[in-house]
Amino acid sequence: MVISGKTNVCAIIGDPVDHSLSPVMHNSAFNELGLNFVYVAFTVTAKELGTAISGARSMRFKGLNVTMPHKKAVINYLDEIDATAKDIGAVNTILCNKGWLIGYNTDGKGAIFALKENGFFPENKKLVLLGAGGAGKAIAYQLAQNAAELVILNRTRQKAEKLAKLLRKNFNRKVKGKALSFSILKKELELADVLINSTSVGMHPNIDCSPVPSDLLRSDLCVMDIIYNPFHTKLLKDAMSVGARVISGLEMLIHQGAVAFEIWTDCVAPVEVMRKAALNQLKKQGVYP
Ligand SMILES: NC(=O)c1ccc[n+]([C@@H]2O[C@H](COP(=O)([O-])OP(=O)(O)OC[C@H]3O[C@@H](n4cnc5c(N)ncnc54)[C@H](OP(=O)(O)O)[C@@H]3O)[C@@H](O)[C@H]2O)c1
Repeated sequence: MVISGKTNVCAIIGDPVDHSLSPVMHNSAFNELGLNFVYVAFTVTAKELGTAISGARSMRFKGLNVTMPHKKAVINYLDEIDATAKDIGAVNTILCNKGWLIGYNTDGKGAIFALKENGFFPENKKLVLLGAGGAGKAIAYQLAQNAAELVILNRTRQKAEKLAKLLRKNFNRKVKGKALSFSILKKELELADVLINSTSVGMHPNIDCSPVPSDLLRSDLCVMDIIYNPFHTKLLKDAMSVGARVISGLEMLIHQGAVAFEIWTDCVAPVEVMRKAALNQLKKQGVYP
């Protein structure tokens, strides 16, 4: 790709961003479609967030991805927030339209697309979501609008209850929020179709941990873990060993990126190209076998 005076600049900002898969994923997609775009990564500390956003605005960046720890704080620096991102209270994608910054949250949509692409349509299903943190909230928002029944289980029970209450009020759907305990997990998983882990339990370096005892998993359960390092978490390995269908966190990452790509470019994202680029990068990092 030739960088010119007309190249549109997109970037991810966060701390750390050294291992981010987004640059290879998006640059491969821009190249595939012959778009005059480039994507880079910037380490931005919490103290520098405001000046970093001002810089992106002044230099007419086209788009930003925002990752840990800025997804909440960045809202203070934007001109407009999409309704879903406002409800979730977190932004992971910004469209910079001639200096006017609009914040979106594509995490939830990314998770739903990952499920659907793997043949799981939440409409008639009971889903159990573990975690009510930033990512969990984004996923719960999308699921509550689609799933037949949603149960949110969280270590801090009050967060799950508060989120479930908000979703019942907003969408008038069957949503419960409870503590993440063995007895509740056992009961709720009995009739569940899909289990999604959005907690950080099992993430590198704690790769021998799982939020679910393996004897609660069944072959007819679909299990998605949004963690992508390791590629197959202990939860996914346990699920595979009982014959359950599994979806890696990379799928959500690819699809949330694809939604962001479409916001910036107005083009349909080449998802397969993005997946291949991300997998190659994970191989280089030794995360994907
Ligand atoms: N694939 C993707 O595209 C994608 C996107 C975003 C995030 N992620 C991954 O998702 C995970 C969560 O990210 P986040 O932004 O939601 O983080 P977060 O806001 O810090 O939330 C962490 C969640 O994990 C729970 N948790 C942490 N330690 C726990 C433990 N020992 N036992 C039980 N629950 C525990 C927390 O429960 P409490 O509320 O009780 O603290 C909370 O629900 C991370 O691994 C992140 O890398 C993946």
